[in-house]
Amino acid sequence: MRYAEQIQACTTMKKEWQAVWLLKAIILIGLTTFSDHDTSSNVQRLCYKAKYPIREALLKSFNMCDKGLMTNAVYVYPTRVCDAVKTLKALCCTIPGASVPTGFPAGQTHLKTRLVEIRLAVENGVTEIVVVINRTLVLTGQQEALMIAIMAGSDFIKTSTGKETVNATFPVAIVMLWAIRDFFWKTGNKAGFTQTGGIRSAKYSLACLSLVKEELGDEWLTPELFPIGASTLVSDIQRPIYHHVTGR
Ligand SMILES: *[C@@H]1O[C@H](CO)[C@@H](O)[C@H](O)[C@H]1NC(C)=O
Ligand SMILES: *[C@@H]1O[C@H](CO)[C@@H](O)[C@H](O)[C@H]1NC(C)=O
Repeated sequence: MRYAEQIQACTTMKKEWQAVWLLKAIILIGLTTFSDHDTSSNVQRLCYKAKYPIREALLKSFNMCDKGLMTNAVYVYPTRVCDAVKTLKALCCTIPGASVPTGFPAGQTHLKTRLVEIRLAVENGVTEIVVVINRTLVLTGQQEALMIAIMAGSDFIKTSTGKETVNATFPVAIVMLWAIRDFFWKTGNKAGFTQTGGIRSAKYSLACLSLVKEELGDEWLTPELFPIGASTLVSDIQRPIYHHVTGR
């Protein structure tokens, strides 16, 4: 607990480094919309933002215009997958479309229907499936039945659905990072870590980055191993970058 507070408190870094780390955060973001009101047009806007997260004028000052800076993925509801895949294709975008097709967020639907959802999502062109674990199994201590995710071969574990009243806190994130580290030491396999839920501020995203850097090392700071699920973070990151560039 104290360690978590320390990390959160001590992520102040030099101004010039900060902007670079914020650009790094951008490429880790999985842009998310899980709203009851999602339509094809807001999914299209989301995809556009994923492709062009930072204004060109700002990128110019970093000599980054031609670097194809974009976010890591887009996360949408199963019924919006077609919109996302179609839009990303139209934007000639290599961002993988992703979805959460497993009774998200409660995970309280039958295995049979979840399997159908997964098949449909794959048919519609997603490249990544997020599975909500059966929390009944966790709460009643049936770990064997749950087959703890990384042991069962998942590419990454995710902190929360982002729909909880209390999302991924730092102490919880640390426990998960230690599990990933143990697993790596035992097997040599790298499982990824997704932080999600309530990551809205640029400052907090930097704290998350330093946490993963501290616990797992730089090699984990890649889109494959450390996606950050967030919906409004890109706008918040834009502000300090704008400030860095213009001094205003
Ligand atoms: C979760 O696991 C419990 C215990 O095995 C089972 O009864 C329940 O149907 C499962 N729930 C889902 C949503 O799969
Ligand atoms: C958790 O995240 C959700 C979605 O971003 C947000 O509505 C909620 O307020 C967050 N809760 C906390 C305690 O941060």
